[in-house]
Amino acid sequence: MTSPATSAQRIDGVLLSQQLRSDIAARVQALKARGITPGLAVILVGDNPASQVYVRNKVKGCHDCGFYSVFDKFDADLSEAQLLARISELNNDPAIHGILVQLPVPKHIDANKVIEAISPAKDVDGFHIASAGALMTGMPGFLPCTPYGCMKMLESIGYDLKGKHAVVIGRSNIVGKPMAMLLLQKNATVTICHSGTQNLKALTLQADVVVAAVGKRNVLTADMVKPGAVVLDVGMNRNDEGKLCGDVDYAGVKEVAGFITPVPGGVGPMTITMLLMNTLESAERTR
Ligand code: GUN
Repeated sequence: MTSPATSAQRIDGVLLSQQLRSDIAARVQALKARGITPGLAVILVGDNPASQVYVRNKVKGCHDCGFYSVFDKFDADLSEAQLLARISELNNDPAIHGILVQLPVPKHIDANKVIEAISPAKDVDGFHIASAGALMTGMPGFLPCTPYGCMKMLESIGYDLKGKHAVVIGRSNIVGKPMAMLLLQKNATVTICHSGTQNLKALTLQADVVVAAVGKRNVLTADMVKPGAVVLDVGMNRNDEGKLCGDVDYAGVKEVAGFITPVPGGVGPMTITMLLMNTLESAERTR
């Protein structure tokens, strides 16, 4: 009789976040003893419901770890000039060590202009061209929070990427591209797949690590995964019942993969944890 295949180990983003946030909170106390409180400014323009949830969680994360936070919620008709003026104020505010403008911004506002207006020293989202350039060239800089969180998850299972084939599905500036760079930095062989990729399944079947970051349900199904692979699910979607789900068919893929991140409770909380880490490190630099 053959033994039944064991299902994948779940990488718990809530648990790992709790551990990291307790370290962060301790470092915040040490900084406070020296008269510095890490400060994060979060800006939301408009009333995108998903963005409202993300932003609320970010502000709550700040509060829980003892940060100072400013939350600016603007109506969707805020002008680009008004937003840029507010960013300039925050750039010059010594109580603020990190500035985050939740994306997407309304169509009349140029997101690139907004990102480039944030001082690179306070770019805790890691979206500024200076941060992206630093990542590309191996210089120190803020890492984008979601890929940074994914790397921490791989680290938490002691995964050695050297010589492994990592397939990233999605090529956004926020996740796919920086994710690929971080995997490359750890000596993985990296393939970036996207909407124009032919025969995605042939590529994912070769992957030791798959990162799904498309924003569409069931991008990765069990038949596309090599047995034992590590699967990181960056997606945040709703299924037909309105329940939160990722890009990966979790129920199917967990029977094939070696490790898998759930949605919710996987990469999502790690994104916020790494935002707190970036803000803390920014504040520590002002010593
Ligand atoms: N929109 C989706 N993800 C993010 C993120 O990590 N940061 C910001 N600012 N906006 C986002």
